[in-house]
Amino acid sequence: IKKIGVLTSGGDAPGMNACIRAVVRTGIYLGKEVVGIKQGYQGMVDRKFVNMDSHSVCNIIQLGGTILKTARCDEFRTYEGRQKAYKNLKKEGIDALVAIGGDGTFTGAELLSREFDIPVICVPGTIDNDLYGSDFTLGYDTANNTVIEAIDKIRDTAASHDRLFFIEVMGRDSGCIALWAGTAGGAEAILLPEKDTGIEDLIQKLEKGADSNKSSSIVIIAEGDKNGGAYHVAKLVKEKFQFYDIKVTILGHLQRGGSPTSFDRVLASRLGYAAVKALEAGETRKMVGIRGNRVKLTDLVESINNNSFKLEEDLMEMSTILTI
Ligand code: F6P
Repeated sequence: IKKIGVLTSGGDAPGMNACIRAVVRTGIYLGKEVVGIKQGYQGMVDRKFVNMDSHSVCNIIQLGGTILKTARCDEFRTYEGRQKAYKNLKKEGIDALVAIGGDGTFTGAELLSREFDIPVICVPGTIDNDLYGSDFTLGYDTANNTVIEAIDKIRDTAASHDRLFFIEVMGRDSGCIALWAGTAGGAEAILLPEKDTGIEDLIQKLEKGADSNKSSSIVIIAEGDKNGGAYHVAKLVKEKFQFYDIKVTILGHLQRGGSPTSFDRVLASRLGYAAVKALEAGETRKMVGIRGNRVKLTDLVESINNNSFKLEEDLMEMSTILTI
């Protein structure tokens, strides 16, 4: 391997810059050239390449977002798109890739690598933490901290006004943020896409709270929850409890930004470093992840096919008990 291409794709996540820095500096240390590919697979298709050196990744470890930018690229989903991208890589002399992103990024990387025989290592970068083969993904810890800061602030005003708040957090198919941040924020109830809790459960819980003179409550709802989103759930609950003063807050994209926590910076650095070392060791079509505080490789296909349920069962049980 002489020239490594690095890209970020899909939704941005805090820690991506720290990871780019680690890839660039490890590559250079091992005597490789490193090229940044702008806007993920779109930049591969459109030939948006930028030579990276140690200096080009100075002062970025603390930055949210991604200096390489990111995009979701429809053209790359087609064989013709990937062929065009591969030809561009060849012209540029890029002979290996590190792709940082979520399951969509992994799928693209796996196809490109298999169809055109180019080595690829992926790094799990998404605030959703929904990837198999890594206990944690880049950005998850930072997003959780952003959410608990918001919950704490909302709790101040909720308690002052005796209000019931529904807070919707990100996670298209994943309740990881909802469960973790909801637990850390002491939420009275948490609705998750992975667990089919109907509205009845929630209503019973709120009834219990009202009976024990609880005057304010916080309910966390994951974006992908099957009950129809925070506004809809709030409406259904209002029909049952006329006396509750109900408010809804959708946290949205603020969860994707911000300076990465120390955990995310270290995780990103470890995985970026490990990705380049894995390429150097002749590995391909693998994801570098962290399991039990050890860096581990997982086959990309295995990771893509298994990203269904990742919630901590004990947290689910415990958070219900602790909020009684
Ligand atoms: O996958 C990360 C994520 O933030 C999800 O939680 C969310 O559903 C989605 O991306 C939003 O995507 P976009 O920024 O394209 O609207």
